[in-house]
Amino acid sequence: MTRKIVVATGNSHKVQELSEILNRCGISDVELVPMSAVIGPMEIEEDGQTFQDNAHLKAMAVFKATGLATLADDSGLCIDVLGGDPGVRSARYAGLGASDADNRAAVRAAMASNGASSSPARFVCVLCYIDPLRTLFTVGESLGRIDVDDQGSGGFGYDPMFTPDGFDQRYAEMTPEEKNTISHRGRAAERMAELLIALESDREYSSVSGLTLEDLCRASIASALGRPEVIESLSRRAQDPLQRLRLTEVLLQSYLFAGFPAALDSLATAHAAGRSSALSDHVESYRADLFEERGQMLCREIYGSVYDKMMARFETISPSMRSWMIIEGYGKTLSRAGLATRERELCIVSILAALGRSSQLYSHVRGALAVGATEDDLEMCQNVVVELCGRRAYDLLQSTVRAVVSKAP
Ligand code: IMP
Repeated sequence: MTRKIVVATGNSHKVQELSEILNRCGISDVELVPMSAVIGPMEIEEDGQTFQDNAHLKAMAVFKATGLATLADDSGLCIDVLGGDPGVRSARYAGLGASDADNRAAVRAAMASNGASSSPARFVCVLCYIDPLRTLFTVGESLGRIDVDDQGSGGFGYDPMFTPDGFDQRYAEMTPEEKNTISHRGRAAERMAELLIALESDREYSSVSGLTLEDLCRASIASALGRPEVIESLSRRAQDPLQRLRLTEVLLQSYLFAGFPAALDSLATAHAAGRSSALSDHVESYRADLFEERGQMLCREIYGSVYDKMMARFETISPSMRSWMIIEGYGKTLSRAGLATRERELCIVSILAALGRSSQLYSHVRGALAVGATEDDLEMCQNVVVELCGRRAYDLLQSTVRAVVSKAP
């Protein structure tokens, strides 16, 4: 099935360029749709202080207007000798409605007043993807040099002034293909492609990979109970970057249920086996507002009609406890790319059964069913639990599943 993603830009060239990059990265089931095809032109004020803010503003505005998964970008040029300018003002450095030539002239003038004819500089591009459950960011940079004269006639914007490191041609002297493979936008799009592949929630991973969902439940329990030998053997079977990313996500999320020491030990074990994804590739900057927003969306998805009651209960205990749970748990951790919500919930169910946390186990068994897990999936969890934890944990899970199912409408 093809997934549609709206691209929050009026520039059809960008849509084409992003499509080509995603295809090159092996994404064939995503159709990028220009926003003009869905809602027509839309004024979005880009008044953020950072590229990340602006990409988020654009993606959020279009996501809210369409309700569809949305991708937005923001980019610009940062010149060292100008203290990072023009930065987020790159498109309007010479004023609103300025042409590319006007903006280049403004850069030339600013550099002259600093007595510089050349300066280290970088192009930056931030991509932001939003769907009902997740907000993802990727960043791409292209380091190089800005010279005050223009050379070449290709490209756009500041291309005639920019020479990327390792080359002696300006961007404006390269073919679009040459520029795409090294450009800031190309790099951000390649990282986004990795995350979008990982997000593909409907795919049956067990048929394409060495690690099944059952294995991910095993990894979760092994992390919680401190069983490095299990993690080592699973790590060795993680065959490709996607599998490594998924294993990393499972081990990472275990800290919410089993604590930091457990998660740190197991991430280190997986890393030593040479098989865990480098977490640094997937670190997001801390954005409490963003985490709260997507945490609420995810929580609503998991808890459905009980969501409001649950929030009211936490609110009575303490509003800050409610926020903390949404931000730290659902927004910051469980909304990351790499695992489908159903897969995350089944891993959580396995951990909670292993640890004998009966009341949270009840909630998460209910949550797993609400996000599409079947009774067969829960039986699979029971088998993993009996294999790694023995009879008592198995009985707890079995009785909890029975209790939840018997109450289901
Ligand atoms: P936006 O991301 O569409 O808001 O573009 C910001 C501005 O940054 C553009 O209008 C250009 O001036 C500049 N810019 C961004 N990427 C490039 C590039 O690849 N080459 C030249 N200029 C760029």
